[in-house]
Amino acid sequence: MPNGCPLSGRKRHERRGTSRMIRSVVRGFGAALPKRVMTNAEMEQVVDTSDDWIVQRSGIRQRYIAGEGETTASLGEQAARAALANAGMTPDDLDLIIVATSTPDNTFPATAVNIQNRLGMHHGFAFDVQAVCTGFVYAVTTADAYIRGGLAKRVLVIGAETFSRILNWTDRTTCVLFGDGAGALILEAGEGTGANTDRGVLTASLRSDGSHKDKLYVDGGPSTTGTVGVLHMAGREVFKHAVGMITDVIQAAFDATGTTPDDLDWLVPHQANRRIIDGSAKKLGIAPEKVVVTVDLHGNTSAASIPLALAVAAGDGRIKKGDLVMLEAMGGGFTWGAVLLRW
Ligand code: UT7
Repeated sequence: MPNGCPLSGRKRHERRGTSRMIRSVVRGFGAALPKRVMTNAEMEQVVDTSDDWIVQRSGIRQRYIAGEGETTASLGEQAARAALANAGMTPDDLDLIIVATSTPDNTFPATAVNIQNRLGMHHGFAFDVQAVCTGFVYAVTTADAYIRGGLAKRVLVIGAETFSRILNWTDRTTCVLFGDGAGALILEAGEGTGANTDRGVLTASLRSDGSHKDKLYVDGGPSTTGTVGVLHMAGREVFKHAVGMITDVIQAAFDATGTTPDDLDWLVPHQANRRIIDGSAKKLGIAPEKVVVTVDLHGNTSAASIPLALAVAAGDGRIKKGDLVMLEAMGGGFTWGAVLLRW
């Protein structure tokens, strides 16, 4: 125990549970996918690849691809409406919208403001966060900070992407991996005691390190090329860092709350690669049956992957009120992070 720290381990966490505090509690969830499903067999017609290679290396069997008229904002709006219906709320009940995306409809205004308008919401405020595949983890953490700081009471948090629009469809090392979609959560201020038994966001651990920029990036932008650009990824390089970074932030969330993998009901990881998901869970001693996997269905949908997975697992009754849920992601930047919440 470091000098000057009056309480350690479990005692410190028990002491934490005696004061009243605001918690950001999940009230609703929703998701939206484009109409078109693209299987690995169809991908074989586009680039020199095979269903076997894609499944073995990534676990992906299909992905959804946005068609004409389907955009990040339109998918985000659909997911938002589903989450509002699930929460029994209307846009009037919200005071903040945060959208995590790297594929906005426009360079500006923010996709969040676009969705705010689509929902007919003309009060409150809205903004985007950009942390690529970790975007939803950053957005939930930001929403939690606004709620606990008293700046918002009900926040709609959306992860929405149309990565199909920034892919190089002749590069087999990337185009087979990504897909489009959107998911949303509604967080509302609730009262907690500070204990781990509270419902709501319990802790978050966020990281970034820009020295890894060249391993996963888009080669365009308003201030450089004046074009949108296409995605580049040194997959093997990203893979090498992924498990270590993910397990570090998850462990930090466990340590901050005095919880362990045994206490966890569900790990809802970013869905990039089945081998990364399995490797991270194994390293931490999280049982495979506690891990929500949707990468086979959706591919890698970047910031949308976690809320899409949450909507699947909460929608089919696996994630229930009171369950302890760990969200984690790692992606371009690099950025990485974890959020521990009680559903
Ligand atoms: O979401 C943001 C974070 N991103 C990630 O977490 C992605 C991390 N990386 C990965 O998931 C994996 O590295 C990949 C799935 C991208 C690739 O798997 P890998 O086991 O690292 O394969 P590799 O890149 O080492 O490529 C192995 C072989 C290469 O051939 P050679 O050099 O061994 O002859 C590639 O050219 O597979 C070849 N290859 C393909 N073959 C068939 C690459 N892409 C394909 C393809 N189909 N689509």
